[in-house]
Amino acid sequence: MNNIDLDKYFKPDLNKARKRSKKEIEELKFQLSDAHSKIGINKTYQIHTYGCQGNEADSETMAGILELMGFTHTDSEENSDVIIINTCAIRENAENRIWGELGRLKAYKKQNPNLILGLAGCMSQEENVVDRVLKKYQHVDIVFGTHNIYKLPEYIETAMFAKERVIEVYSQEGEIVENLPKVRNHQFKAWVNIMFGCDEFCTYCIVPYTRGKERSRSKEEVIAEVKDLVKQGYKEVTLLGQNVNAYGKDFKDQNYTFGDLLRDLDQTGIARIRFTTSHPHDLDLKTMEAMRDSSHVMPYFHLPVQSGANPVLKKMNRHYTKESYLNVLNELKKHVPGISVTTDIIVGFPGETEADFLETMDLVEKADFEGAFTFVFSKREGTPAATFEDLTPEETKKERLYILNDRINAGYLKGNQRFLGETVKVLVDGVSKYDESVLAGYSEHNKLVNFKGDKSLIGQIVDVKITQAKTWFLMGESL
Ligand code: SAH
Ligand code: SF4
Ligand code: F3S
Repeated sequence: MNNIDLDKYFKPDLNKARKRSKKEIEELKFQLSDAHSKIGINKTYQIHTYGCQGNEADSETMAGILELMGFTHTDSEENSDVIIINTCAIRENAENRIWGELGRLKAYKKQNPNLILGLAGCMSQEENVVDRVLKKYQHVDIVFGTHNIYKLPEYIETAMFAKERVIEVYSQEGEIVENLPKVRNHQFKAWVNIMFGCDEFCTYCIVPYTRGKERSRSKEEVIAEVKDLVKQGYKEVTLLGQNVNAYGKDFKDQNYTFGDLLRDLDQTGIARIRFTTSHPHDLDLKTMEAMRDSSHVMPYFHLPVQSGANPVLKKMNRHYTKESYLNVLNELKKHVPGISVTTDIIVGFPGETEADFLETMDLVEKADFEGAFTFVFSKREGTPAATFEDLTPEETKKERLYILNDRINAGYLKGNQRFLGETVKVLVDGVSKYDESVLAGYSEHNKLVNFKGDKSLIGQIVDVKITQAKTWFLMGESL
């Protein structure tokens, strides 16, 4: 399989990925050919997922396609005929883990030369990654990206029967593909893509390059998917997009945005609606009003702020200031009283001074976040921030992260404590990792709740009275 004719490969191109065309987005319907529907009979597969919820949703699609081809899932790496690594490129350490994993899987390929090893996801969209795979990871058979998952049957056929290496990554936006099969990982909670791509171009972020232009799925497709999930007994949907608040802004012929979608989905009969992720700059009044008026949209909001310092926000290209962020947040809290808000924060962005960091700490204080994902800035090749002068020592960045995390953890605890003595509604996920007789699930405010109860409650929404509040979870008694 050591193909060396580099011209036949379709490699990613960062310059192309950066461009945004005015062209209308095509909608395709996936259909499996008869020939492809038998390829996987008596064969097995595994998918290893490393990325965000969008990446997990893509893995569910890949699993759906593979099962439609006849493959069955296996827990054993040794016995797999196909292994797909669905990658994430957001930070360097995410990528390093995956290089390690690819190295480790070489042993299985030696044991079973017929094993097909595929690399998918955001890393595949990076030029330097594909070059490195071509040079040093000859045991990877298929490299495909985020825009052409629907072509997986073709790629498997080529790798399996023609014994040819497939490298096919599209750098431009790609179509919206409907009718894709899915094997969902969960029986009562589901991901629902409402849009793809991102046009924000935050200067640190690789996603606009790996996921392409912002494009929304039609409201009819989204509503139909949620209605179908209700029929199947699903209790919760999480609407997915890199910037869900930009939903519908690309529709040419209708004025229909995220707030409208929330109102329509509220009528579908689904018990719980969540969404991720939001951009403060695009969060509008219509969305807040829809949240206020709906009974199924959960009182929880993840609103990444990234930094509290205006010069840093400007260099990040975030289109808001500390003050305007806090205004939006106050408006949100007014519309949805008691809402729980979490965020994302990056420390050590190039040029971040001690004073800038203190601005972030001040914002955290004022915003009263009940949780956050916090990161040290990671340089991503091809993004503008990779070229910014960065003189802050790594040690200082780590110190800032520790200080920030301490404050954030206090926010988690405070956010949990406000439910002491209250009765909350919990969608029961399963038994606790630590004790079989304890059930675990999430409240409407997205708090992890543990309580003693019977396994038959899994998948149900139950009333639980909170008796103890810890930093990471609540304890309660079912009523
Ligand atoms: N579209 C979402 C999520 C993007 S990725 C959003 O805009 O919120 C999730 C988080 O990873 C981001 O919010 C950001 O905090 C972090 N992140 C992205 N690129 C990063 C980088 N180069 N270094 C460190 N953290 C980064
Ligand atoms: Fe990245 Fe910014 Fe888009 Fe989020 S909004 S995916 S951080 S570019
Ligand atoms: Fe990672 Fe791509 Fe998601 S870079 S965070 S898998 S969009």
